[in-house]
Amino acid sequence: MKAIEVDAYGDSDELSVVDVPTPEPDAGEVRIDIESAGINFGDIMQRRGHYPGGPDAPYVPGMEAAGTVDAVGDGVEDLSEGDRVVGMLDTGGYAEYVTAAADLLFPIPEAMSFDEAAGFPVQFLTAHACLFEWGGLEEGESVLVQAAAGGVGTAAVQLASNAGAEVFGTASTQEKLDLAAELGCDHPINYTETDFREVVDKETDGEGVDLVLESVGDDVFERSLDAMAHFGRMVTYGVASGVPAEVSNQRLLFENKTVKGFHLGQASMHDPSRVMQAVPELTEGLAGGDLEVILGESFALEDAAEAHQYIEDRKSSGKVVLKP
Ligand SMILES: NC(=O)c1ccc[n+]([C@@H]2O[C@H](COP(=O)([O-])OP(=O)(O)OC[C@H]3O[C@@H](n4cnc5c(N)ncnc54)[C@H](OP(=O)(O)O)[C@@H]3O)[C@@H](O)[C@H]2O)c1
Repeated sequence: MKAIEVDAYGDSDELSVVDVPTPEPDAGEVRIDIESAGINFGDIMQRRGHYPGGPDAPYVPGMEAAGTVDAVGDGVEDLSEGDRVVGMLDTGGYAEYVTAAADLLFPIPEAMSFDEAAGFPVQFLTAHACLFEWGGLEEGESVLVQAAAGGVGTAAVQLASNAGAEVFGTASTQEKLDLAAELGCDHPINYTETDFREVVDKETDGEGVDLVLESVGDDVFERSLDAMAHFGRMVTYGVASGVPAEVSNQRLLFENKTVKGFHLGQASMHDPSRVMQAVPELTEGLAGGDLEVILGESFALEDAAEAHQYIEDRKSSGKVVLKP
């Protein structure tokens, strides 16, 4: 089968098309004939070699794939050939076929396309966990979402708005801000022109926001702390800048601020029920039209390098997928 390999850690030109044997499912696994593979920013961090515990090169990247079950391993009882499924993977999604643990797959609701399904698990489970289970967001509170027009960002804006929060969101272009606004962002902020802290101060009478979803790192992390209210909370879940940030314990204690970290893969490994409990609510929201997977560009599998570069150049909004 055709797959994409990261030959060595580095830039997007380290992604190449290879021919590899089609995998066979082990016990407890199924093989998926992939229709759409989600690209996550984490794939780029892994490719750069900046992802703690990431795979050693060479490897086939891809943490998320949607398709049809085409072979079933021993001991799998509730899935059969022909079922439409989507799931989270360690690696291997940038390919024509992948094997996956049956208990980490969800059936794709009838009304959902394969592309929408490939954009669902990582971004919606991450956004939901960061806002509610980790961030404790409640109706009437305010939340600042960094990278509000991105994959996780578009999910977070919708979920926060539907929950009755006042939503601040940052992005780098007017087009992205328009998208965030359409999804329920009350205060879209172009951070290339305006300091998000100034907007937050103005709109909250200098108090700051109750919660920040922070995924950039570097100085955005510290400035997000500045934009938080006394007793405010932050959930940090990404380092898109590639520059990890540090926090002063003295600052946190004097300002009564809380910073929590969230990592979907690690959380799913240590206590899957804590993140998976949101699946029924999310699939219902998606099926009923309260939530929408925002699809960005789609690329042919062979063009994975171009797709990575597109995301790294900050051209993407919503979910970017690969089509084998
Ligand atoms: N912890 C977890 O379990 C988990 C799960 C999923 C994703 N994540 C993290 O969440 C973040 C969003 O992931 P995603 O897949 O949905 O990606 P994404 O938001 O679609 O893309 C990243 C966005 O970050 C913004 N950005 C700001 N500074 C950047 C920089 N220096 N380089 C590149 N982009 C920059 C860009 O938006 P603007 O152009 O608007 O600035 C860009 O479009 C990433 O940091 C990712 O690693 C974490």
